Amino acid sequence: MAEKTLATLFHETLKDVYYAERKILKALPKMARGATSPKLKAAFAKHRDETEVHVERLQQVFDVLGKPARGKTCDAIEGILAEGDEILEAFKGQAALDAGLASAAQAVEHYEIARYGTLARWAGELGLKDAQKLLVTTLHEETKTDEALTALAEGSLNSAARAA
Ligand SMILES: [Fe+2]
Ligand SMILES: [Fe+2]
Repeated sequence: MAEKTLATLFHETLKDVYYAERKILKALPKMARGATSPKLKAAFAKHRDETEVHVERLQQVFDVLGKPARGKTCDAIEGILAEGDEILEAFKGQAALDAGLASAAQAVEHYEIARYGTLARWAGELGLKDAQKLLVTTLHEETKTDEALTALAEGSLNSAARAA
């Protein structure tokens, strides 16, 4: 049996997050269409564009490894996105829809923050400086998105959801 090392873990996790990012890229326009708050719609649209770049950065990390960019089914993101769909359906036309969608999007961001945090540290351990830089850049964008969603939720979405 081939030895499994930190490099193996890194490559496997990279495939996992590559799969997830491409799923997220497809989910964000749907969430933007479903949202009613113009600010939330704009936040989803902006992050869709960023996510396109996240996919490209991951392709660059695969290049650093000299491996083909290939995803592997990530059950975690499937579940998180399915919950988002559920909110979209169950709260359609309801005052609490946007607060629900923002919370679903934050679950996605937290998943990404966990994965990119790990990958960035492992890249450092493995001496993959260029890969680490790419991963940290994306990690910061995920964190900023999470913070922007918190600000929107606290600023208006939660009170709108409560008021109706
Ligand atoms: Fe991302
Ligand atoms: Fe994200």
